Amino acid sequence: MLETPVTRLLHIKYPLIQAGMAGGPTTPELVAAVSNAGGLGTIGGGYLQPEQLRLQIRQVRELTEKPFAVNLFVQPPVQAPAQTVVTQMNDYLNQLRRELGLPEQTEATPIDADFEEQVAVVVEERVPVFSFTFGIPHPDVLRRIQEHSVCIGTATSVGEAVALEQAGVDVLVAQGSEAGGHRGTFLGPEEQALIGTMALIPQVVDRVQIPVIAAGGIVDGRGLVAALSLGASAVQMGTAFLASPESGAHPLYKRRLMEAEEDNTELTRAYSGRLARGIRTEYMRKMAQYPGEIPPYPIQNTLTRDIRKAAAERHDPEYMSLWAGQAHPLVNTHPAAALVQEVMDVAAATLRSLVHAAHP
Ligand SMILES: Cc1cc2nc3c(=O)[nH]c(=O)nc-3n(C[C@H](O)[C@H](O)[C@H](O)COP(=O)(O)O)c2cc1C
Repeated sequence: MLETPVTRLLHIKYPLIQAGMAGGPTTPELVAAVSNAGGLGTIGGGYLQPEQLRLQIRQVRELTEKPFAVNLFVQPPVQAPAQTVVTQMNDYLNQLRRELGLPEQTEATPIDADFEEQVAVVVEERVPVFSFTFGIPHPDVLRRIQEHSVCIGTATSVGEAVALEQAGVDVLVAQGSEAGGHRGTFLGPEEQALIGTMALIPQVVDRVQIPVIAAGGIVDGRGLVAALSLGASAVQMGTAFLASPESGAHPLYKRRLMEAEEDNTELTRAYSGRLARGIRTEYMRKMAQYPGEIPPYPIQNTLTRDIRKAAAERHDPEYMSLWAGQAHPLVNTHPAAALVQEVMDVAAATLRSLVHAAHP
């Protein structure tokens, strides 16, 4: 046990949340395994169509009676780029498509799910916990969700944390720059919100009254204790769960996570148009040469979708997005429940040794 304001509010045993990871890793089996083990599993619903989301929620409910969360992307209005920006990017990507033997594309039709429709499913299904990233939902939407769900927003700076608290969220995730996947930044330039977890957590904790969950580079019990020492009330871990057997990540992605002996991640906009941290790939190296402007999210995400999909089908990790945090070389392939228990055991042992060191 490690009781904190977050464990009390979410009705969970351990202050450990498995991050919602859109795009396939967070299978119902992974989510339920984490919740059954005493943490909070999260469905990464960002890319799911409403009925797919409903199905996953029901599948999780068949596997656990414990609380779980759904995570979605708040879609701020996108300033449409000039057509020339999109055409120039597509021409460049067509060179890659030719090299990969893929048909060229002339148009990219966005097929992203509608946030309002996804929210309707979350409300109808009375999901116990709702988390979101990339912005703040409209106040009416937030109130509607809060009738049945505890609401968790994502901040990458003190300013965003204060804005989320003022909007009335119940808890917030403070995402340090070590984190794998997309940055949640929604106020100001993404490059100005690259604060490490160690520096960000205490600053956020000092400025808000609501409980704070630390995210970014935390993969084990040592990281959990460090985050609690900085004032966090729980941790959210993404990368740590990616290589578990329950994770839906591609087998080669799982292998790449553990191959590197030291961090080999980088922040890039090349896959989706939003800044995100992943393992360096050939695609990232090629896109580093791109002379033009990268279209914003979700346009770039739509433009690159066929390339990523074909790469996964052909087992070519160099053209897949391999999102990972800076601590990825520490991850293991243990089942999710064992991982949760291990994190808690190491946290308890770390705390004991610290107490012993202070009072020998
Ligand atoms: C593969 C992957 C996908 C992610 N997808 C999402 C997502 O859909 N929604 C979200 O709020 N955060 C997402 N994140 C970020 C996590 O919420 C969290 O901030 C991050 O995993 C913490 O850093 P760590 O990966 O070092 O544990 C993703 C992270 C990874 C690694």
